[in-house]
Amino acid sequence: MKWSNQITQLIGIDYPIIQAPMFGVTTPEMVIAASRAGALGSLSLGDLPAERCSELIRSTAAHVKKPFAVNIFVNHVPEVSVNLRIAYNETKVFVEQLALQHGLEVALPELDSIHITDYREQIDAIITQQCKVVSFTFGNLDPHSIKRLKDNDVIIIGTCTSVAEAIALEEAGIDVICVQGLEAGGHRGSFEEAPVPEIGGFSLLPQVKEHVNAPLIYAGGLYNASTIHSAKLLGANGFQIGSLLLKSKESALLDFEKARLSHVQESDIVLTRSFSGRYARGIKNTFIEALDKSQYILPYPYQNKLTGELRRIAKANKNVDFVNIWAGQSIHSYSELSTADIIQMLIREVENLHTSLVV
Ligand SMILES: Cc1cc2nc3c(=O)[nH]c(=O)nc-3n(C[C@H](O)[C@H](O)[C@H](O)COP(=O)(O)O)c2cc1C
Repeated sequence: MKWSNQITQLIGIDYPIIQAPMFGVTTPEMVIAASRAGALGSLSLGDLPAERCSELIRSTAAHVKKPFAVNIFVNHVPEVSVNLRIAYNETKVFVEQLALQHGLEVALPELDSIHITDYREQIDAIITQQCKVVSFTFGNLDPHSIKRLKDNDVIIIGTCTSVAEAIALEEAGIDVICVQGLEAGGHRGSFEEAPVPEIGGFSLLPQVKEHVNAPLIYAGGLYNASTIHSAKLLGANGFQIGSLLLKSKESALLDFEKARLSHVQESDIVLTRSFSGRYARGIKNTFIEALDKSQYILPYPYQNKLTGELRRIAKANKNVDFVNIWAGQSIHSYSELSTADIIQMLIREVENLHTSLVV
């Protein structure tokens, strides 16, 4: 059975909505609500240790009858060279001083104390917990992991940001391809850190459609019926929504972060490597502006690990200038309703537009 049929059956509608995994924003409650509203929920596991992944999966699965997706980061980890060690220490000093100049006292971790998760351990947890859909970003899975997932009847969704990446995913045997346009909020799912593909979604989607046979999910800038219908016309079988849920009741963003979204301007939304070392789209602030014009950006995941403690302290201090608020280019009113209400209203809007288009 084709994936699009499988998912259509799983979630029972013609326009399958996928709640985007949003690490740091998605909560089990969001996944539960999305699933109940008729969408495919996606639980973000990011680079969490396997044990924590199992806990989150269990606490979500306890409340969801239908399958939901889990999402992991599948990135290359550069070796720790002498040069990386020097750069890490210099970046640590620069970031600590920058924070101090803005009233935030923070001690960032030493390089030797950071923990980097091997995604293969997460896959063990995913299989043990009997998840039936796994999506991933930042790279491609190794053949052994793909075989293990397939042997356990897990549907595999990979993310691409170019035609070349889509072809690589299909050739590796990935079941479903999530096409992420440049307008998307959050990290670019690109395999390489630089030069990162910068292709707008509505250019990329039809090109990917021409080059691969796998069913396609589209992600990037979807926020109403007309954007979803347009993506369908361009070849999408499923529609992934992220930024639309940023201010939802179940979002893990704090009130001061949600408040920042309320007055965001077009020129505030930028692509930046400042927080993690990988390009991500979000709201410009003091930290982003200072880092992007400096030389103090380490390769992912080192920059991400380095700045984690800064972001934690900034959140605790409600300091909007040192937290990462990822958001896509489609600025809208960011509803504060529950995830379930937002998705159900979207589904109704899509169906109404469909009816008016075919009549
Ligand atoms: C706050 C935030 C966090 C995100 N985290 C992830 C993630 O952990 N894994 C992933 O595959 N995509 C992640 N994304 C990207 C989304 O899956 C999706 O591509 C994007 O939200 C679609 O664009 P939109 O935000 O315009 O809807 C994130 C997006 C946002 C806004």
